[in-house]
Amino acid sequence: MVNFITIRNKIINTFIVFNSLTDARKYAYLNFKNKKRFKNNKMDYMSYGIKLIVFSTVFIFKSTIKYLSIYISSLMKGYKPIIFNSMEMVVTEKCNLLCPGCISLIPLYKDRENKDIDDLSNYLSTFLDVVDYISIIKIMGGEPFLNRNLSSFLEKFCSEERYSEKFNKLVFITNGTVIPDKATLNVMGLFKDKIEVRVSNYGKKSSKIIDSLIENDVVYVIGKDSNSHWVDIGDLKRKNRDELTLNKMFSECEAKKNCNTLLDGKLYLCPFAAHGTKLGFFPDDGNFVDLSSNRNYKNLRESFYKIRSLKYIGTCDYCDIPLSKPYVEESHN
Ligand SMILES: C[S@@+](CC[C@H](N)C(=O)[O-])C[C@H]1O[C@@H](n2cnc3c(N)ncnc32)[C@H](O)[C@@H]1O
Ligand code: SF4
Ligand code: SF4
Repeated sequence: MVNFITIRNKIINTFIVFNSLTDARKYAYLNFKNKKRFKNNKMDYMSYGIKLIVFSTVFIFKSTIKYLSIYISSLMKGYKPIIFNSMEMVVTEKCNLLCPGCISLIPLYKDRENKDIDDLSNYLSTFLDVVDYISIIKIMGGEPFLNRNLSSFLEKFCSEERYSEKFNKLVFITNGTVIPDKATLNVMGLFKDKIEVRVSNYGKKSSKIIDSLIENDVVYVIGKDSNSHWVDIGDLKRKNRDELTLNKMFSECEAKKNCNTLLDGKLYLCPFAAHGTKLGFFPDDGNFVDLSSNRNYKNLRESFYKIRSLKYIGTCDYCDIPLSKPYVEESHN
């Protein structure tokens, strides 16, 4: 019998490069929006619209050339390229808000730590050496600006061509309540083409960071109101779902496409699996790529192909995320 889910997954995997393009276009738009194109704080819709179309078209054209050239040169060398939409790199588990329902399970940690910069640097350089291209590397927590040692790390990856040519942007995801340290602000302002800040929108408290970003000429965007799209992470208990249900859930899951999570050197398919496994809520199903101990190029590429061909992971049986409707109650006071 024809398995439609497998066929659909194959098509999605084959066209991952076009997923990356969608992401690139979104960020092109956000970038544009924040380059002070508004007169007297009033939006000039006509010129804004035209510039947006021109800017997005040029951006997509350039990205298409980039992706196609990577694709074609890899195929000519006889291997399938490894291209990522995005990845979330956890630089700290510390957080000053501890919102109930956090998809990264941060409030459930007993001990929260800032990650060591040399370790982060080793994991990311190994990752970039092995993959062919990644559109967005999200700098993630907890609250990422609570790690006060990130400036040299950012500088290294934005200034060394060997690394910077492998990614489009480093994007901080922040709750907006922590003003970054001066050195980090400087570097973010210096590498405007490579670094952006995305401020999650938790109402007024998230605006605390804005003045410091403007003063340092940092490119930033404000996300849509989180109450409109947060999902219910469920009760973390095992559900004993059958294989067909797990396949379907996984194929519909956005997190595994856009939120692969690098935690303590291990790259998981989603933050739920990464943090939940570390915290002991789910058994270790081995479905991650270990960048902390394995530096062998060939083995690592094989591991990437392997996790990207999975039909589901063990954690999906504990997860309600793809099934949950966005809920609108206040989740992060
Ligand atoms: C885990 S947070 C870490 C970064 C930072 N602390 C923040 O809140 O922006 C990363 C992103 O996940 C989002 N998020 C957290 N829990 C979520 C949930 N249950 N459903 C949807 N998005 C969620 C946050 O709004 C944020 O944009
Ligand atoms: S969503 Fe962000 S701010 Fe809220 S607990 Fe999770 S990491 Fe902290
Ligand atoms: S556990 Fe499975 S279904 Fe849940 S977010 Fe992760 S990949 Fe998606």
